[in-house]
Amino acid sequence: MIRIEKLNKVYGHSHVLKDVSLHVREGEMFAYLGPNGAGKTTTIRILTGLTRLSSGDAWLNGFHVERETLAAKRQCGVVFQAINLDSELTVFENLTIHGLLFHMPLKERKQRINELVDYVGLSDKLNVAVSRLSGGLKRRLTIIRALMHSPRILFLDEPTVGLDASIRRRIWALMKKIQKNGTTIFLTTHYIEEAEFLAERVAFIDEGRVVAVDSPQALISRQGEWAIDLMMNDNIRSRYFRTKEEAKQYAEQQEDSFSFRRVNLEDAFLSLTGKKVK
Ligand SMILES: Nc1ncnc2c1ncn2[C@@H]1O[C@H](COP(=O)(O)OP(=O)(O)OP(=O)(O)O)[C@@H](O)[C@H]1O
Ligand SMILES: [Mg+2]
Repeated sequence: MIRIEKLNKVYGHSHVLKDVSLHVREGEMFAYLGPNGAGKTTTIRILTGLTRLSSGDAWLNGFHVERETLAAKRQCGVVFQAINLDSELTVFENLTIHGLLFHMPLKERKQRINELVDYVGLSDKLNVAVSRLSGGLKRRLTIIRALMHSPRILFLDEPTVGLDASIRRRIWALMKKIQKNGTTIFLTTHYIEEAEFLAERVAFIDEGRVVAVDSPQALISRQGEWAIDLMMNDNIRSRYFRTKEEAKQYAEQQEDSFSFRRVNLEDAFLSLTGKKVK
């Protein structure tokens, strides 16, 4: 559904994306993880036609993002981190504007708005100005707005940043529901447990290069099964082991205090992106 081949982006002297190649399957929930400045937003901007690529190719549902921009744009909806709603306008008006941009006829537009607000529990807020909504409701509105024209692919750039734990879980449930309806989801996040919980596959990107693509479980297993965190003076050093026994043996020889746990996706991320605390 998303095909990226040897994608490069250069801004002046900085080479921001370096030969990025990725294939996202139809109906998949795919997470794109990387440290600040790794190139995640740039990738989404290129795929959604907001920034031009420097070299390489990318297709959305078979449409080339540069050669068939309009058709490619129609395949996707996008939610950016910054909430870019018109806060003086109502929920209904914000959704209407998006429908108009995609030339949706009046009847279809109204029907889709009703369906979507119902889908996320915003029906009673249709005529409320966006400025009066909570952060969680605004986020839900940005997501359904991206779904107005029934895209096959939904791009979400840090969809839950700044939301509290319970609202984040509601957004997760919404994302699963959208995926269940057949939409392919491509998301970036700094909450690694979010990717571990939601995504079927994860790509790690570091300084513009894809360093690993696999299922969360496979990425975790590459690292090991068990971890020992040693509490050093001013940091924590983690060691990874295949078996509980090996971990215990190692721990018994240590003088520093330590804790024992399962390896998680964050361990894999830190070690593959070289951002390990040393
Ligand atoms: N318009 C631009 N002109 C020049 N450099 C840019 C531009 N946009 C992004 N960059 C640079 O490209 C690099 C990648 O930025 P990008 O926003 O894609 O990172 P990111 O992975 O989304 O980071 P974050 O996790 O902080 O959102 C950064 O070094 C950034 O400074
Ligand atoms: Mg970003």
